[in-house]
Amino acid sequence: MDLEALESLRQFLLNFTGAYVIVSHKPFFLDQVTDITWELTPVGLKVYGGNFSQYREQKEIELEAALRSHEAARKELKRTQATAMQEQQRAAQSSRNGHAKFLNGSIDRMAAGLIKTKAEVSTGTAKKKHEAAVAKANQKVAETKVKTTKVTSIQLEEKNQKRRNLIHIQGANLRVSERLLIQNIQLHVSSGDRIAIIGANGSGKSSLVKAILGMQNQAAVLESGDVLLAPAMKAVYLDQTYELVNRRHTILENMQAANPNLSYQLLRQQLGHFLFKYDDVHKSASVLSGGELARLAIAMISISEIDLLILDEPTNNLDIETVEQMVVGINDYQGALWVISHDIDFLSRINITQGFKLKEQTLQMTTYLPSTPEQYYRELLECHQ
Ligand SMILES: Nc1ncnc2c1ncn2[C@@H]1O[C@H](COP(=O)(O)OP(=O)(O)OP(=O)(O)O)[C@@H](O)[C@H]1O
Ligand SMILES: [Mg+2]
Repeated sequence: MDLEALESLRQFLLNFTGAYVIVSHKPFFLDQVTDITWELTPVGLKVYGGNFSQYREQKEIELEAALRSHEAARKELKRTQATAMQEQQRAAQSSRNGHAKFLNGSIDRMAAGLIKTKAEVSTGTAKKKHEAAVAKANQKVAETKVKTTKVTSIQLEEKNQKRRNLIHIQGANLRVSERLLIQNIQLHVSSGDRIAIIGANGSGKSSLVKAILGMQNQAAVLESGDVLLAPAMKAVYLDQTYELVNRRHTILENMQAANPNLSYQLLRQQLGHFLFKYDDVHKSASVLSGGELARLAIAMISISEIDLLILDEPTNNLDIETVEQMVVGINDYQGALWVISHDIDFLSRINITQGFKLKEQTLQMTTYLPSTPEQYYRELLECHQ
């Protein structure tokens, strides 16, 4: 749904007097229309008072508390293990002492034997006691273990690249099947730019990209004006079909192709950060779910050396965790970025430096950026009216 459709739904819900349940992965929208959040977890439904942002804060707090408990349990385990070790060493030492005293004649054989037996008995009881304590501490560690899907990525070396112009369009028109969709386009993209483009469904956002990259059909074309593309520009267009991922190859092979200069170990590490672990990496890409494909595509992009990445509605159909991973991957990526999306929450977190809106068949710069989502949203709504 574009923003206009979402806004109508919001207005409808504001005036609706009954109760409603919304199933959605759009945080910005949810914040505006809900005040209780249900989470479906493997152990049942968990209810949080508050809208999505408050839910997210609550989850952060829960996670931190859980991590602290786990850390405390690990410390306790270490302490228990150290105590057990010391006690055992002490018992062994006392047995050795008895033997030494016997050898130097300060006690007789019987006394030495007694000391030995006593030492052995106390070692045995102590051992059992400590084993039990260590087992208990171990269990506590296992119980408090936190499953976190947080991605911490490998740090790629920053390419020492000069800023260069990638796309320069001045005064061109976009036509799709003879129909004029956008006129007098002024668009300049340089390396390092991070651009967001928003516009109503059918306004020509995807067609503009396809025309620039000369993709597939001849239906979308740019005519008149100046259209210049940097020579040898490596651009990747990513929509929900994830063409970037070669379905005939495995997950690992796709990663290798994305950056042949990285070592096997680094590739595995990065795959792990995007939750592809163990034998999973040898799975064929053809069997992956939509969300998994998105994750793999972003893992590939995070290590690719591409000049321009174009994302077309990348968060549609993705759950909130996968969007989180996408945010991390995109923030690692260092080339120029062009994003078509109506997901304000997502846009607000990927460091957009320029905003464009398609209004009345023209491409216009926005005054506000997604980093101030409320103002940005209001400005965009006006372009639909
Ligand atoms: N190959 C084609 N042949 C004919 N018309 C086309 C073709 N491709 C796109 N169009 C039309 O061009 C218009 C713009 O389509 P486009 O996909 O660029 O819109 P969009 O802004 O990306 O929309 P959405 O937000 O729904 O993705 C639409 O009316 C669409 O039907
Ligand atoms: Mg589109």
